[in-house]
Amino acid sequence: MNLFKRFSFRFYQNIIALTTRILNFGEPMKIIGEGSIDRIAEVFVDNGIEKVFIVTDKGLEKAGIIDTVTTILRKADMPYVIYDQVRPNPTIDIIEQGVTLYELEKAQGLLAVGGGSPIDTAKLIGARLARPDKPLHKMRGLLKVKRSTPFLLAMPTTAGTGSETTVAAVVRDSDSHEKYAINDPHLLPDVAVLDPLLTYALPKNITATTGMDALTHAIEAYLNKHHTKKTKQRALHAIKCVFDYLPVVYDEPTNKKARLNMLEASYDAGYAFTRDFIGNVHAISHQLSATYDLPHGLMNAIILPLVLDYYGSAIYKRMAEIYDYAFETNEERTNQEKCEDLIDRIRSLNHKLDIPETIEAIRVVDINRLAKQAYHEANPLYPVPVMFDLIDFITVYMRLDPTFRQKK
Ligand SMILES: [Fe+2]
Repeated sequence: MNLFKRFSFRFYQNIIALTTRILNFGEPMKIIGEGSIDRIAEVFVDNGIEKVFIVTDKGLEKAGIIDTVTTILRKADMPYVIYDQVRPNPTIDIIEQGVTLYELEKAQGLLAVGGGSPIDTAKLIGARLARPDKPLHKMRGLLKVKRSTPFLLAMPTTAGTGSETTVAAVVRDSDSHEKYAINDPHLLPDVAVLDPLLTYALPKNITATTGMDALTHAIEAYLNKHHTKKTKQRALHAIKCVFDYLPVVYDEPTNKKARLNMLEASYDAGYAFTRDFIGNVHAISHQLSATYDLPHGLMNAIILPLVLDYYGSAIYKRMAEIYDYAFETNEERTNQEKCEDLIDRIRSLNHKLDIPETIEAIRVVDINRLAKQAYHEANPLYPVPVMFDLIDFITVYMRLDPTFRQKK
C-alpha cells in the first residue's frame, strides 16, 4: 500500500474515532443473572409497549425457549406475535418480511431472542421501520439510519456476538454474495437481558464457535489503533473470561458461573468493538460466510491465529499486555515470546474446542473476489495494526485453503 493511501486511510480512521468519542453512545440497560428472563414483561410495560414483536428462529422454538418467553408475556397479559423466520447469516428478504408482519400486526416494540442473527434481524427491522423510504443497501456503512427505531430488548441465547450491546447489524445480500454492516447508534438495543439459563442447551459446537467470536472481537478491538481506558479494560476482561471459562462451558454446559462469565465476556467484547472496531479477521471471515454460508464464529476462530501471525512485530507489545492480563503473569520474557505464546494458546483453545485449522469450502477461483471484498470492507474503515493490501488478503485466503497447505 503506498504512503499516500496509508496516510489518507489513517486520517479517515482518526476522524471516525473522534466522531465515535463525540457521539458517546451509551449502553443498553443491562439485566443480568439467572432468572432475569422473568423481568421481560415488566420492561415492556414500563416502556409503554402494548404489543411485542418477537424475532427469533425455529431452532429456539424447538428448544422450548420461546415457550418460556411467551408464558412470561401471557402471565402479564402482554400481547405478542412471533416472527421465527430468521436464518443464520440473514438476508435482506428475511428482514423485509419481518417489517411487513410488524406493520400488519401493529406491534409496538421488538424482542430479539437468539444469537447474533435474530438480534441483528430485529435491529434491521427497526431500521427499516424508522426509514421506510431507504432500502438497506443505502444504510450500509456509518450513521445512515439517523432516526429513532422502535424499542428493542435483546436477549442473547449464545455468548459471542455481543450484538446486544453494539450499534452494528450485519446483513447478507444473496445476489451480490456480500455481507455488510450497518452501523448507527440508533441500532443500540434499549435493554439487554443476560440470563445464563438460556445458554445451557446450546449445542457444543455453537458454544465453541460463538465463544471464539467473542474472543476475536476483544482481541481485534484491543489491537486496533484507538482506545479509551474503559474499552481497553472491557476487552481485556473479555479475553481473560474466554480463556478461563470457554473450555469449562464446552465440557460442562450447565455450569452457571462459567455460562454467566461467557455472557459477560460477549457483552464486554461487544462494548469494546462497537467503539474501537473489529479488523482484518472479520473482513476475511464475512466474505467466507457470505459466499459459502458458513458460521461466522467458526470462520473467525480459524482465521484469528493466522492473521495474528501475519501481523508480526507490529502487535508484540499489545499482545504481551493481553498475555500478562489474561494469564496473570509477570514473566521475564520478551514481548515477542509472549505474543507467540498467546497465539499458540489460541491454537490450543481451537484444538480443545474441535475447531479445524483450515476451511474446506474455499475454492481457489473465488479467492481474488473474496480478497477484493475483504479489502473494501477493511479499508479505510478499520483502524487495524497493519493495513492489508490486496496481496495480503489473497495470501491469508490461500493459507486457509487446505489444498494450498498440502502443497507447501
Ligand atoms: Fe463477530
